[in-house]
Amino acid sequence: MRIAISTGGGDAPGLNAVIRAAVLSATSRGWDVLGICRGYYGLLGEDDIIPLTRDSVRGIAHLGGTILRTTNRGNPFEFPVRQADGSYIEVDRSNELFENAERLGIDAVVTIGGDGSLAIAQRLFERGMKIVGVPKTIDNDVSGTITTFGFDTAVNTAIEAIDKLHTTAESHDRVIVMEVMGRHAGFIALHSGVAGTADVILLPEIPFDIEKVCAKVRARDRAGRQFSIVVVAEGAYPIGGQESILADSLPGQDKRVGGIAGRIAWEIQNRTGKESRSLVLGHLQRGGGPTGYDRLLATRFGGAAIEAVENGRWGHMVALQSPHIVTVPFLDALREPKRVELTHDIMRTARAAGISFGD
Ligand code: F6P
Repeated sequence: MRIAISTGGGDAPGLNAVIRAAVLSATSRGWDVLGICRGYYGLLGEDDIIPLTRDSVRGIAHLGGTILRTTNRGNPFEFPVRQADGSYIEVDRSNELFENAERLGIDAVVTIGGDGSLAIAQRLFERGMKIVGVPKTIDNDVSGTITTFGFDTAVNTAIEAIDKLHTTAESHDRVIVMEVMGRHAGFIALHSGVAGTADVILLPEIPFDIEKVCAKVRARDRAGRQFSIVVVAEGAYPIGGQESILADSLPGQDKRVGGIAGRIAWEIQNRTGKESRSLVLGHLQRGGGPTGYDRLLATRFGGAAIEAVENGRWGHMVALQSPHIVTVPFLDALREPKRVELTHDIMRTARAAGISFGD
């Protein structure tokens, strides 16, 4: 048996732990393992294919990033090709990918990625590829699994930032608005905001009213708490408005959401007269080594992915359905993206604790 492993989409802490566990589980069965570098670029002749042995995965479980590198621009069905005039066209290069996989004697592929990578995996599966998936994203927005690795690390990074912001906001009687990642899902904002005891949390799942946000800031002032911490998910937007989109995405990439924190801070300052600042936590949330929770989950996913290959669970991803790791069809995971449940106990407890969601 010869398998190939690929990491696609944005990186997430824990990718290396998945790769390590998968390689060790596969080699202990006597299988060969290849690493496809930079998403599927390696299988399109645009990057390397490397052998992965016990030696190549030594000492990597605690490291962030991915030894295989990754990209969010490598969809083989809609591959962006730059033209002489600087414009881009999308080309279907999936035939080349299948030819190269056959030439290399690859029997099965383990793809580690988020919803975009799983959607590509589903198309490859429909075309006959023997493929299993491992869900990865700091956003935690993949259905079918209780959580994805990388999420816990991102939440911890955000909590550490909120703790630090508290001391400076309090010293200066300021409002500080911190923007976290998550794309269209508010899990990072909700979990870090509640654990970090933010005063306002704004989620893509609840369009906000800026006046309600200001009312919370004023109420805290009246109660003698002259500073406030607002945690806003990058995909949050005002009632009747739209997500804030950054203009710098490249061809073949999803539109980048972000920039909402600055607007909110400006509005709060204008409406309340309180000095307000903003920051975007950005890629710090994706960097660094995984937490213990993510490292263990990633390791479990890596081992389970090899069991899925052994059991021929093609077209399925491994998933956490506590306390067990199970397999779920890609299609089930892709049917509906996971979003914050508005009646979840975290939401209820947050509201009971006085956190405003701007609604
Ligand atoms: O999906 C993971 C994620 O980090 C999102 O939270 C964020 O919107 C996006 O990727 C950022 O992507 P990029 O690294 O391309 O800026």
